[in-house]
Amino acid sequence: MPKKNTRFLCKECGAESATWLGKCPQCGAWDSLTELARAIGKEAAARGPRAVVAGAAGSIGTAAIPRPLAELPLDASRRLASGLAELDRVLGGGFVPGSVVLVGGDPGIGKSTLLLQAAQAMAATSPQPVLYVSGEESPGQVRLRAERLGALAPALYFLAATELAPVLAAIEQLAPALVVLDSVQTLGDADIEAATGSVTQLRHVSQVLSRAAKERGFPLVLIGHVTKEGQIAGPRQLEHMVDAVFYFEGEEAGLGRILRAVKNRFGPTHEIALFEMTGAGLVAVEDPAGFLGGRHLKGELGTAVTVTFTGTRPLAVEVQTLVSAPRYGTPARVVQGVDPRRVSLLVAVLERSAGLALGGSDLFVSVAGGLRLDDPATDAALLVALASGFSGRSLPDATLALGEVGLRGNLRAGSHLEERCHEALRLGFERVLVAATATLGKGLPKGAVAPVADVPALLAACGLAGLNRAVAGR
Ligand code: TYD
Ligand code: MG
Repeated sequence: MPKKNTRFLCKECGAESATWLGKCPQCGAWDSLTELARAIGKEAAARGPRAVVAGAAGSIGTAAIPRPLAELPLDASRRLASGLAELDRVLGGGFVPGSVVLVGGDPGIGKSTLLLQAAQAMAATSPQPVLYVSGEESPGQVRLRAERLGALAPALYFLAATELAPVLAAIEQLAPALVVLDSVQTLGDADIEAATGSVTQLRHVSQVLSRAAKERGFPLVLIGHVTKEGQIAGPRQLEHMVDAVFYFEGEEAGLGRILRAVKNRFGPTHEIALFEMTGAGLVAVEDPAGFLGGRHLKGELGTAVTVTFTGTRPLAVEVQTLVSAPRYGTPARVVQGVDPRRVSLLVAVLERSAGLALGGSDLFVSVAGGLRLDDPATDAALLVALASGFSGRSLPDATLALGEVGLRGNLRAGSHLEERCHEALRLGFERVLVAATATLGKGLPKGAVAPVADVPALLAACGLAGLNRAVAGR
């Protein structure tokens, strides 16, 4: 008979089960469940509630005894600046000691470059050494890259390893200020019967190194590869175990790179950092608006500038659309940087509230710089860009539209409206069209912000009124 409180853990996917099963109910692997004994049975219970909690909580140490939250010491959240200002901003002000950060991205996007630069910047100022572990490249290759990046601070240490034990030994020996593991898929523990790169090994090495990071207080960066389809087959399994998850992205042909926070326990999510890949490594983009086309005060046909809000800052960016008569029977929709469902919704709203029948046209939508706009307050700009592309009339100069578009053709203000308006005006826009329901403080110059009630009013304010099927139908 199975013991009380015994559980079974799948070696493949980590799923837990109360009973032993031949086949894992979660991932379907055969003969993968192994027993996991926990000291919370009768014997532990006899030692009293404290012992039970301590046993269940594992190695959290003093935190194992429940205490009123208000009595806990305030963690001043000491931050360790990496020295790369863009990276520090995405982190929320630098690395938090003992935290674990996962950086994912396509092969070749620049993960190793970014983290080597960060390791160098930190080693140049930190009194403790910084450890860069690579299972991907030989010391010679890394040295060559480091030469190019000027990353040769005496306190920057390198270890070529595919085995966990030497990494732990190096941590013991160096007491590093930061550890970078490039990549988590190339490290394995010889004591675990699973292939390097398998989910079991990924979880195990991440767990062991995270524990070391928490105990010793160094931040740990795990680099993980994403497959071409954007599926992070392996590292995705780690997302819930780490404190922060960042993705490094960029257009295939372009040199622009975006570091995006998708999860951050210690900082704002949706925050992004912009870099450019140069001959001497990654360089922070100094003028994001210029980089993202946000300074185009004179709109071309089918384009509009919007101001999105990412984490802590407003970013002006150009959205581009092309509307043309369908080439083949079914109209084409090629949408990059926005959710295609949002484009469909805006097309439907334009048809219903303004009589613009775009539905039958080929539609191409993209966002400058490879940025992704998940921000509903950028709807208005997208909508006027589509209307402009469809009607063949460009938008009035120095005019920018902000707001969410509702199904009824109504407009909503969206978040951080005031910051967005200030950013637009700073860049030289003279008129910002906002939802009539928006409440704005007094800080904005008179006449700079024009309220519009709904989609027809928005189109009228952009000189796109009075279009109908007859005018626009081609
Ligand atoms: P890398 O950091 O190796 O990518 P990842 O670790 O994500 O696989 O970056 C590889 C690309 O970056 C490679 O195509 C060369 C380019 N690169 C530069 O353009 N300039 C540089 O200074 C460096 C180091 C790399
Ligand atoms: Mg690499």
